[in-house]
Parts: sequence; structure tokens; C-alpha cells
Amino acid sequence: MKKINIALLGLGTVGSGVVQILSENYEQIKEKLRADITISKVLVSDTTKPRKIDTSKIQLTDNIEDIYNDKEIDVYIEVMGGIDKTKEILLHALNHKIHVITANKDLLAEHLEELEEAAHLNSVSLKYEASIAGGIPVVNALNYGLNANGIGKFMGIFNGTSNFILSKMTHENLSYEEALKIATELGYAESDPSADVDGIDAARKVTVMSYLAFNQFKLLKDCVYTGIRDVTRTHIEIAKAFDYRIKLIGKGEVQNSEVSLSVAPMCIPVHHQLSHVENEYNAIYIDGNAVGDTMYYGKGAGSLATGSAVISDLLNVIELMGTNLHNLPLHLEVEQLSVQQSEQ
Ligand code: NAP
Ligand code: HSE
Repeated sequence: MKKINIALLGLGTVGSGVVQILSENYEQIKEKLRADITISKVLVSDTTKPRKIDTSKIQLTDNIEDIYNDKEIDVYIEVMGGIDKTKEILLHALNHKIHVITANKDLLAEHLEELEEAAHLNSVSLKYEASIAGGIPVVNALNYGLNANGIGKFMGIFNGTSNFILSKMTHENLSYEEALKIATELGYAESDPSADVDGIDAARKVTVMSYLAFNQFKLLKDCVYTGIRDVTRTHIEIAKAFDYRIKLIGKGEVQNSEVSLSVAPMCIPVHHQLSHVENEYNAIYIDGNAVGDTMYYGKGAGSLATGSAVISDLLNVIELMGTNLHNLPLHLEVEQLSVQQSEQ
């Protein structure tokens, strides 16, 4: 039986979900993967803070050196957020041939290329299913299920918090402030919720999608975005009167190798499926040139939904351990194959 040791960076909304799923599904996972998974160390900012989950069997630390010095660790799961320091930690891991799983779209929207390159050079995995649309396996869809296709465009609802606010304003007459407060209490909102309501979080996800869908690295600044902060109840009522719903829509399109990315509130007619995506749910359409339109729907935020995506990455990494297939995504390998062929 393989022994897998994990360092969990962060024990907030998502980190707690990860611990809960691993503990509740421990036997099932162990049997399926023939792997015994241990969370060896957990990085937090305050080790004395009361926690919602039982931490009696967890070794908490606020010092990253404790994790760097543990040579038994196979995988870092990063669910703490932040950009500069977090990038340093994840690059340290990759350069020490430790696999990395992250839910951190803030980081990926700025440094995905550098992180992918470090993973590739060190032949280890970098996985980030949870960074886009919470529990919906959209990264897996693009990397595996749709990899026979050229992707021309994608569009959908990428932010759970703003969709939650719009739903509550539309159907329950809640104010913007009341709805945001509930979304924050439920763990959907970012530590700085202006990222959610100003369209930045959705734009970051759309930026990461650009690499997965079009194989082009883009940065947050390459996406044109507007959020829902200025959407009023009057806007919502007018839209309703004409059988529309206001939704925050992210889009990506490639034409003649030019990628355009955007996020904006839009009026969606009630006969369109996206108008019925409510609360923290997300839904994303991806158009493949072989398969046509596909749609992915589910919880886009929250502890267990996001934890589910993180654990799915972990199980994929464990399955790949011992193989040399870590340098995914596959299109990089296909590119190399075609270069080799043309050289022959
Ligand atoms: P959170 O509830 O605020 O938890 C963050 C955790 O990281 C806390 O345990 C905190 O420690 C720890 N932490 C933060 N900065 C740290 C530092 N500098 N050093 C050590 N520990 C640090 O955040 P979250 O909602 O779980 O989100 C975590 C990440 O997942 C973010 O990148 C977020 O964008 C992403 N994400 C979140 C969701 C969601 O639904 N919430 C969904 C998808 C992706 P303390 O507990 O001691 O404060
Ligand atoms: N704050 C994010 C959202 C969390 O509301 O969609 C999931 O990425």
C-alpha cells in the first residue's frame, strides 16, 4: 500500500472541507487507490484560533519551515490564498519535486505560466481543478474529456457569490448588502469580497480558462471586466418585466489566434438555461469543434463542493505517481510529438 503524506496549506473554508472529505471517505479512497493518505502538517496563520473541525489529530504550524523540513511530504495542497508569498512556497515545492494542488485563482491569473513551467521541468503535477467553478470538474473536462477538440469559445457563470447575490435580489427581495453578508457567512465570498462583486474573481477564472481552452497564457489585465456592484433592484425589476434575468457572464473566444476575454452583467432571457442557475451554482458552456456545445453545472463555491475538486486532483496525482505522465496537459506533449515528427 502506497503511503502518501500531505502538507495542507490553509484550514479555512476549503481546507476544512478537504479534511472532512478525506476523513469521511477515508476507507473508500484507501481501497480505491490502494493508498494510505495522511495529512502530516497543516499551515495556518494562527495556531490558537478555534476551529470548526476536530484538529486533535492534526499537526498545526504557522511556520512554513516546518513543512519545508519535512522530507516525507509528497504533495502540497494550497488552500490559503495570497499571491507573492504563496507563489514562493509553491515554486519551492515544485522545484523540490513535490506535487502541488491549488485552489488559488488569484495566483494562477498572474503566474500560471511560471508554475506550469516549473512543474514541467521537475516532472511533477500542478493541479488546479478547484480554481475554476468550485466543485464542477471543468478543468478535467478541458484537460481530458474534451482534449480531442479545438475549443472556439466558452461562456457562463463563474462566480458563486455574485450569482448568489443576484438570485437573492431577484427572487427574495433581499438587498445587495444583506445577500453579500449571507454569502460571506456561508464561506462563498473571497477574503476581500470586492473581488467577487467587482468581477475580478470571475475574470481570474476566465484568464485560467484561456490556457486550458486555447493554450494561451493570459493575465488578469488581459480580461475586460465589470462586476455587479452597480446592479440595482430597479435594473433587476426592469429585466424581470421583460422576462430576463441579470447574470454575471464570463466569456472567452479565440479567432485567428486572437483571444478575447470578458466578464460583465448581462440580461439573459428566461428561456435560456443560464437564467435558471441560482445561488452559489455556476454553469459553463464549452464549445468543441468535434463535440459541439457542452455544459457543466454545479456548486461553484463552498467548503465541501470545493474540497471535492481538491480531493479529485489529489486522487489523480496519486494515480499518476510512479508514472512519468505528470507533464500534463496533454497538448504540450502533442506539440512536442509533432515537432519530433517534423524533424524526422
Ligand atoms: P479562508 O477561509 O480565508 O482560509 C484561509 C486559510 O489559510 C486559513 O486557515 C488561514 O489561517 C490560512 N492562511 C491565510 N494566509 C496565510 C498565511 N500567510 N500563512 C499561513 N496560513 C495562512 O479561505 P478559503 O475560502 O478557504 O479560500 C482558500 C483559497 O481557496 C483561496 O485561494 C480562494 O480563492 C480559493 N477558493 C475558495 C473557494 C470558496 O468557496 N471559499 C472556492 C474555490 C477556491 P487561519 O485559519 O489561522 O486564519
Ligand atoms: N468567491 C468565489 C465565488 C469562490 O464566489 O465563486 C469560488 O471560487
